[in-house]
Amino acid sequence: MADQYAQSGGDNRPAGIPAIRWEEPPEGPVLVLLDQTRLPAEEVELVCTDASVLVEAIRSLAVRGAPLLGIAGAYGVALAAARGFDVDEAATALAGARPTAVNLSVGVRRARSAYRAELARSGEPGQGARAALAAARQLHQEDAEASVRMAGHGLALLDELLPGGGQRILTHCNTGSLVSGGEGTAFAVALAAHRAGRLRRLWVDETRPLLQGARLTAYEAARSDMAYTLLTDSAAGSLFAAGEVDAVLIGADRIAADGSVANKVGSYPLAVLARYHHVPFIVVAPVTTVDPDTPNGASIEVEQRPGFEVTEVAAPQVPVTGAGGGIPVAPLGTQAYNPAFDVTPPELVTAIVTEEGVVSPVTAEGLAELCGRSRPV
Ligand code: MRU
Repeated sequence: MADQYAQSGGDNRPAGIPAIRWEEPPEGPVLVLLDQTRLPAEEVELVCTDASVLVEAIRSLAVRGAPLLGIAGAYGVALAAARGFDVDEAATALAGARPTAVNLSVGVRRARSAYRAELARSGEPGQGARAALAAARQLHQEDAEASVRMAGHGLALLDELLPGGGQRILTHCNTGSLVSGGEGTAFAVALAAHRAGRLRRLWVDETRPLLQGARLTAYEAARSDMAYTLLTDSAAGSLFAAGEVDAVLIGADRIAADGSVANKVGSYPLAVLARYHHVPFIVVAPVTTVDPDTPNGASIEVEQRPGFEVTEVAAPQVPVTGAGGGIPVAPLGTQAYNPAFDVTPPELVTAIVTEEGVVSPVTAEGLAELCGRSRPV
């Protein structure tokens, strides 16, 4: 049945899309971002000359996704230090730019600690700046390596849960190379299944209201020549009912100590659907996304975004995350409920896949044991 669905074609370009890079032109160091608000229409780069430009890029989702936010936050601290700005002020602004993805504050903290330690040792701000940059580069590299390991663990888990191959995987939001130093989290697992010849279809939720699935995951899937089909979020139920989904793979923005998972709004309904239809619901995230200081799902701060993202659609070439100004799809003055994330309780999660291995069943003890094997910060 799956192959009857319409699908955009792949162009066979490499899957790796540099979402972020550090450059040192003669005018001074800069952080270059692929502006994700403009995809897939245009591949436009955004050059950050100081941390305040990066803070705005984070708020507007030009740079986004939990692991990449951590990397960006670390480079942002390095940028402030290298350009002679107040590092503590920049670090506070960066860490507070978005509240839910814990990776952002982890990345900021890591670069700031490196800066402070080197400044205290050498008394040289320039040395401190170099230490912050080294910390950011290391986090970037570690995330790339974590991607490879998550893909390996995730593929082995899929093979165990779905013997016989022919996997039809449903994913939500965007979790590929656009959010990572490597090939991502959940998407990296789907990509591994594709390369192993076992992915029959990637079902891509469009991910209302900002369409990270339609704009970004479909873009990545096409570039990787995967068999993929886009659906509206509300079509997922009928897809499960038709027996067309073998597994759900999603990422995470924060995983609480009890295994509760905050991810893009719409993830929790998928978990409920998956449980009802006896389909595995698998979360893929690096250990930097697990926050031992957040005890449970109720303690996770869920970002609320502006109502115009729901009441308007973006005009062509105009990012909807601007100051409104899109095309209204609701009567003027309509109030909107627009949480950016929701929280899935651990009992609905079949497994959490990290670079350190797999937790299943998902328990606080299992998670603590697994994450204790690595020391993120
Ligand atoms: O609001 P966004 O686009 O930053 O949300 C991103 C997500 O929800 C991703 O699924 C999550 O960060 C996991 S990325 C590996």
